[in-house]
Amino acid sequence: MRSSQVAEILKGNQAMERALALLAAGEVVAIPTETVYGLAGDATNGEAVARIFEAKGRPRFNPLIAHVASMAMAETIAEFDPLSRRLTEAFWPGPLTLVLPHRATSGIHPLVTAGLDTIALRMPRGFGAQLIARLGRPLAAPSANSSGKISATSARAVEGDLGGRIQLVVDGGPTQVGLESTIVKADERGLHLLRPGGISAEEIEAIAGTKLLRNDKAGIEAPGMMLSHYAPGAAMRLNVSAVEPGEALLGFGQRRAAGAADAVAFLNLSETGDPREAASNLFSHMQALDRSGAKTIAVEPVPHAGLGEAINDRLARAAAPRDS
Ligand code: TXA
Ligand code: MG
Repeated sequence: MRSSQVAEILKGNQAMERALALLAAGEVVAIPTETVYGLAGDATNGEAVARIFEAKGRPRFNPLIAHVASMAMAETIAEFDPLSRRLTEAFWPGPLTLVLPHRATSGIHPLVTAGLDTIALRMPRGFGAQLIARLGRPLAAPSANSSGKISATSARAVEGDLGGRIQLVVDGGPTQVGLESTIVKADERGLHLLRPGGISAEEIEAIAGTKLLRNDKAGIEAPGMMLSHYAPGAAMRLNVSAVEPGEALLGFGQRRAAGAADAVAFLNLSETGDPREAASNLFSHMQALDRSGAKTIAVEPVPHAGLGEAINDRLARAAAPRDS
């Protein structure tokens, strides 16, 4: 790991040209996507993929999502069943990741899939898609954060976390969605929700015409979904109706928890109670309250409907017991 370097932060055309040169040389680059910032490397280059794990400090080789720029590129990598294809027609490009049977001839380096015979595929919007199209190869990209930390939704957040370990952060402004993609997998039993995310279960069910299967015992979970994840430095206390002395408060909507006026710091995920706005603010607000120095961040209840499912999933992970 080269820890003495300082990442360049670039925008627009300059960023595109520099990112292409670094990726072609097998280096990793932090890029904006519509969900969260990704730490991208050429998915066909084993050294580039190894650098991703190294820069994140991932303790074990969790499989990564391969990002594509076209259906043609996707078809060379994985086999699509009719339901998965229908979902791509409705939601790609966008915050949906599909887990599919991996073609042996894909050219994807085995580190990307961690030895599984399936592969997670996603077609992002915006800068990432243009970059992949120009490179002509898929990009492996986990969220651009140190392992176990909150995903980054701005170039500054990436720089603060990984800036000493990578050469380039592409600045595309704050990300639109603010939560990672939803991950689903179709099999003979139905459509499994492996990770709630930027597209709600209801939206997917409306297109699929079937209910998503959740946590069914025989089901498969995304291996990276360890419980303690997205951890801020502060402890988290969820669904609070009253703030305790010394706590910071993460609010939702217009009704305030008792004692809110005495909170060390206060931020609202969405004044109007809009889950989309709340999702886009979640990680940046958690980071900002963490910087307030409060020992605990108290969080008001967030309704479960729509994107609320993914928001509550990330909050539960941030609140889970930690190793240290
Ligand atoms: O929005 C996103 O999905 C972002 C942006 C950068 O695209 N990426 C992201 O990647 O969140 P990452 O690595 O932080 O999360 C990928 C998840 C992990 O939980 C991993 O275990 C799971 O996808 N995964 C990858 N391949 C899989 C497979 N073949 N089967 C099941 N789960 C898989
Ligand atoms: Mg992640």
